[in-house]
Amino acid sequence: MRPLPLRFGRILYGGDYNPDQWDERVREEDPRLMQMARWNVATLPVFSWAHLNPAEGVYTFDWLDRAVDRLTRAGIDLCLATGTASTPAWVDQQYPDVLTVDDRGRKRPHGNRHAFCPSSPSYRRLAGALVRALAVRYGQHPSLRLWHVNNEYGNSWPNYCYCERCAAGFRAYLERRYATLGELNAAWSTAFWGHTFVSFSQVDPPYAHGEGSIPALRIDWRRFQSSSYLACFAHEASILRELTPHVPVTTNLMGAFQGLDYREWAKAMDVVAWDSYPAADEPFADVAFGHALMRGLKDGQPFLLMEQTPSQQNWAPYCRLKPPGRLRLQSFQAVALGAESVMYFQWRKSAGGIEKLHGAVIEHHGRPDARVFREVSALGAELAALGERTLGGRIPARVAVVFDWESWWALAASSGPSRDLDYRREVQRVYAALHRCGIQTDVVGPEADLAPYDVVVLASAYVVRTEQARRVADRVRAGSTLIATFFSGLADDSDRIHPGGAPGPLREVLGVTVEEFDALPPEASQAVSFDASFGELPAGVELSASLLCDRVWLLGAKPLARYTREFYAGDPAVTVHHYGEGKAYYLATRLDDEALRKLFRAACAERHVVSPLRDGAAPADGVEVTVRVSPGGKALLYLLNHGSVVREVPLAGEAHIDLLSGRTYAREVALAPREVLILDSQGVMSP
Ligand code: GLA
Ligand code: ZN
Repeated sequence: MRPLPLRFGRILYGGDYNPDQWDERVREEDPRLMQMARWNVATLPVFSWAHLNPAEGVYTFDWLDRAVDRLTRAGIDLCLATGTASTPAWVDQQYPDVLTVDDRGRKRPHGNRHAFCPSSPSYRRLAGALVRALAVRYGQHPSLRLWHVNNEYGNSWPNYCYCERCAAGFRAYLERRYATLGELNAAWSTAFWGHTFVSFSQVDPPYAHGEGSIPALRIDWRRFQSSSYLACFAHEASILRELTPHVPVTTNLMGAFQGLDYREWAKAMDVVAWDSYPAADEPFADVAFGHALMRGLKDGQPFLLMEQTPSQQNWAPYCRLKPPGRLRLQSFQAVALGAESVMYFQWRKSAGGIEKLHGAVIEHHGRPDARVFREVSALGAELAALGERTLGGRIPARVAVVFDWESWWALAASSGPSRDLDYRREVQRVYAALHRCGIQTDVVGPEADLAPYDVVVLASAYVVRTEQARRVADRVRAGSTLIATFFSGLADDSDRIHPGGAPGPLREVLGVTVEEFDALPPEASQAVSFDASFGELPAGVELSASLLCDRVWLLGAKPLARYTREFYAGDPAVTVHHYGEGKAYYLATRLDDEALRKLFRAACAERHVVSPLRDGAAPADGVEVTVRVSPGGKALLYLLNHGSVVREVPLAGEAHIDLLSGRTYAREVALAPREVLILDSQGVMSP
């Protein structure tokens, strides 16, 4: 493992810079304006393959040399991109194996970005040559801080490449994974519908006009595609590491993106970086989920916010502006949740092309006296004033929510149980419930070490591996709490249903077996009622339930709440099982947001897992509370008000200083709308 590369000494502040779209006069002006905006890093040249390498073996670095020189003179560091995401027209024309094929076998033409076949040898060779040339030319530059490989790798279903080479690669991948056809047939349950293969050559990718009835094939196709793109990243990274072992290598991920298994990717990256583009009305807890998911890819290590828009997206259905203060709020939210950078797409709003209406630091009018520019520079000044004080901080979470790409893929490939069952949304809901309690929560993978966690949450974890279940059970036996929600533990990672019924290898720890499940259409109504009050949840009051209702047999668990409708009224809907020193809750149906929040709060409180506020209080509506503990052991409390009214926040401890304003606080803070505080309670000088 390469050493932790995050020794930037300050919060990186800057973003995508595309000088090759502009004339010399504009390029001359940029670095001075960047200084005004308080940028300290520029990412370039993300899409410039055609400008750097206009023909095979021909390189035109002069314009980039000049841009690099100007940035360096202005004290702006370099996040150098390898520029390999968009292939030049000459590459696609001369080497047709670079072009991708769609899921009906049609070759896609040149002209998109991110449109190279991940199995193409020509792509690897030509991209590799460019990367080598860049690393030779700029690798020893003193301002080089980071390599940004390619850009937002990957495509979502069905936009993978289905060319003959990918199909052959898929077959080879399957031979490596399963070794024998017997293994493959067993893993894929091909006995059903007579799908048994007698040769690997008979396996095809899941074409749109194909039959598509082997879910496990679809899951393996995703694994294969994810690993093919990862091989492209690894290829570039290996060249960079050979020539510049001192420079960390990353690529920009996209949060909860279904197309690639980012947990595998993170292992190959020196630092996780991601692009955050929340919709204008996205709940802040869901934005927080994205940051927590990315932080969890590398065991809680800090990450980079590589892109966000300073103002608006062009691809949203309605391109709403971020109102004054939201950019700052969202930027500090990222820092609160583990970011070591605040970066933008992009510096200047493009003068043409598909993203000409995408927000940028400099609008088409070019003026620095504009609202967005002023907000960007003010934020830059604040981040600069923080210096190193937020860097390296870890979130002291005692709760882990599992997010598993393979469960996501398996549910996406499943016929049933409900078209409304969306794995990502179910995990986000439990994260949001904890987040609203102010409880610090990590989002981890199925392989994560659970030792640091007192509460482990599996939300609609359709895939649970036997070995994973054993580790969860061990943790519960040792005194932790497991909370699992409906439709968990049905299948293994080949989509084979666990014998004996759901929740499969979690049956023993949860103390239940699912007898059957009922999928409710949106208009159906179901409710649950608690036998006795549980935390803030009252006894005997109907609370609404939706989506799926598992009917369970009790195998040692006790019912806490029961269904109140349908023929299964009176059956258990929420159960608890005492197991070893710990407890395991099963939520057999989907509780509404409020009930879910109360249930998590009560279950966590039993383990003394509470918010960092006074007496473990839950923050008021709209208020986000996060703690980061620096490598030296200092805890900083981040308070953010995402709402539109002033909120009182009760503080633990008697004296706190806000690192941003220098103001001091005692036991209470009135937090104005969109206000951000970073409180240090150990740094207050006695009067
Ligand atoms: C992505 C890309 C950028 C740009 C933005 C626009 O994040 O990486 O190049 O296209 O989207 O939102
Ligand atoms: Zn291909």
